[in-house]
Amino acid sequence: MEKLKIAGGNSLKGSVKVAGAKNSAVALIPATILAESTVTIEGLPNISDVHILKELLEEIGGDVTLHENDIHVDPSKMISMPLPNGKVKKLRASYYLMGAMLGRFKKAVIGLPGGCHLGPRPIDQHIKGFEALGASVTNEQGAIYLRADELRGARIYLDVVSVGATINIMLAAVLAKGKTVIENAAKEPEIIDVATLLTSMGAKIKGAGTDVIRIEGVERLSGCRHSIIPDRIEAGTYMVIGAAVANELIVDNVIPLHMESLIAKLREMGVHVETSDDQIYILGNQPYLKPVDVKTLVYPGFPTDLQQPITTLLTKAKGTSVVTDTIYSARFKHVDELRRMGADIKVEGRSSIITGTTKLQGAKVKASDLRAGASLVCAGLLANGVTEITGLEHINRGYSHLEEKLSNLGAKIWRETLTDKEIEQLQNS
Ligand code: EPU
Repeated sequence: MEKLKIAGGNSLKGSVKVAGAKNSAVALIPATILAESTVTIEGLPNISDVHILKELLEEIGGDVTLHENDIHVDPSKMISMPLPNGKVKKLRASYYLMGAMLGRFKKAVIGLPGGCHLGPRPIDQHIKGFEALGASVTNEQGAIYLRADELRGARIYLDVVSVGATINIMLAAVLAKGKTVIENAAKEPEIIDVATLLTSMGAKIKGAGTDVIRIEGVERLSGCRHSIIPDRIEAGTYMVIGAAVANELIVDNVIPLHMESLIAKLREMGVHVETSDDQIYILGNQPYLKPVDVKTLVYPGFPTDLQQPITTLLTKAKGTSVVTDTIYSARFKHVDELRRMGADIKVEGRSSIITGTTKLQGAKVKASDLRAGASLVCAGLLANGVTEITGLEHINRGYSHLEEKLSNLGAKIWRETLTDKEIEQLQNS
């Protein structure tokens, strides 16, 4: 087990290259199950979720090679092996194995997914979609059993706008007989990315990126090459870090259109932001930032995944800011840790109320989930003294080459192995 150490307080400068999108990768990899020949996905991030999904595809008989950032999946010998436990519990996105395996084999047994604890995260809309397509879905001792004689297209209205349900229903519907319409679909860029891959495989999908997606089922799908979109949440995390501690930061390999809600908020705070085709330039580290209110919404609104990092930045703003998360009710575990570092933050209901300016101080803190980890890294870079962050298994799930990227910008950041005593203390905490 390791901890991350950051000696904060110094300014960063330079350029950082954003990796492929985690939340696309975790859907694109299961989507390869649906093809009859080799699918190559280029530009994947080097994160633990990708490695776990590779192993899961191998468990069901896939011939998979992961070379640097590209994965080649030959799904031709895959079988509908039950995946009730173990690795599926390590990540939320293992639920995409349900849609993909149901689509290809008309049956699947998948353990209930794990992932970050952000309050209740039901999958009722995924199940509603599978059932509408003709599957029977049962929960037996913590695993979801899906069975169908055949899948038939259907009209499905999502009661909650859900990224996961939208993608999962697309995965199950592309090989179903007839036409599927998903209404009140989520519009996130990752959904368009998955639809692009499926279309290259031969699927017929219209409307991805709008709230009505129409799918005409096809008989078979074949191999192809696909290049993943950049990770807008990793990009946003570096933009926030740039605003906090960088004199000049170029965030490279981004789609600026995906970042509009964050760009608008940073500008409202007084941060200078410029965009070009695939780069964003931040002139940060200003002595004075204005407080702002932030409300997370589905895309193209402000992403919940950047709520925690921007909370750290707002400790630098002079005055009171309110950050409200309308997507997850309990995504506030970072707040106690930021308080340990001297932040003045209260949580009321679904909002955190941040009063600044505070000069953060280095402390021993624990990442409770992935984006809480990102908010603590940003805090460590802002703070005086040394910050020690544990709970790195969360950060490893979403940020590739984090220390290398930040060190290249001039940050003092490194990993150390935890002593036996520290491991014991953590386990008791
Ligand atoms: N919801 C339901 N029923 C469902 C599905 C969702 O009530 O069947 C609710 C959820 O409880 C939540 C809201 O709908 O309140 C939105 O959930 P959504 O299904 O959109 O989230 P997700 O697919 O589980 C993905 C990302 C999350 C990101 C959300 C929102 C992946 C693997 N995860 O989760 O990413 O926060 O969309 O944009 O794509 C992260 O990257 O740190 C992360 C948590």
